[in-house]
Amino acid sequence: MRSHSLFILFLVTVFCLVNVEIADGFGMMEIEKTAKECCTVSRRQCCIEVMKFGRPAKCGYENNAEWAEIFYNCIQRGLLAEDQRMSLDDGLCCQVFAHDTSDSSKHCENTCKIAMHSPSLNKTERFEKIKKCSMLENPLDKCFHNCLKMRQNGFSVQVLDFSEYCNYTSTP
Ligand SMILES: *[C@@H]1O[C@H](CO)[C@@H](O)[C@H](O)[C@H]1NC(C)=O
Ligand SMILES: *[C@@H]1O[C@H](CO)[C@@H](O)[C@H](O)[C@H]1NC(C)=O
Repeated sequence: MRSHSLFILFLVTVFCLVNVEIADGFGMMEIEKTAKECCTVSRRQCCIEVMKFGRPAKCGYENNAEWAEIFYNCIQRGLLAEDQRMSLDDGLCCQVFAHDTSDSSKHCENTCKIAMHSPSLNKTERFEKIKKCSMLENPLDKCFHNCLKMRQNGFSVQVLDFSEYCNYTSTP
């Protein structure tokens, strides 16, 4: 009887640990497994670095739009819970930051593109990096999220006018 309940306790504990691991991120094991699934042998090292350091998915796959998307989605599937994955095209919304005329080095736009093209970052991490691109509160951050929302509702960003998802007057 007693060993039976101990065994159940053991199972529950293992289950919780595994769950925490899944909810809280990933380790080297997931990275190596994902690299095997998503990258050819010659690109595997590059691929591992993309995941390990949260970098944009390049490794040569960026030269072909179709491959780029397959690579990006494959890594997300290997590392992120479903509700944390994004579409590579969501990065198109980064163009809202180009409307900030005070950002001559395009710092926020580039920060946004890097975060949105990095498949091992979850949504929270991406949005945090983008929000923090400016030390001041950036009104364009809200526009960025509006843009994502409209894409989710089926609009293609390319056919939207900036004013349709952003009330913004540039104040350098
Ligand atoms: C996102 O990733 C961070 C760092 O790995 C982790 O602490 C956080 O729990 C993750 N958030 C979600 C919702 O998965
Ligand atoms: C912009 O502001 C105007 C007036 O406050 C409002 O009517 C309009 O819906 C807003 N547009 C967006 C995209 O938030």
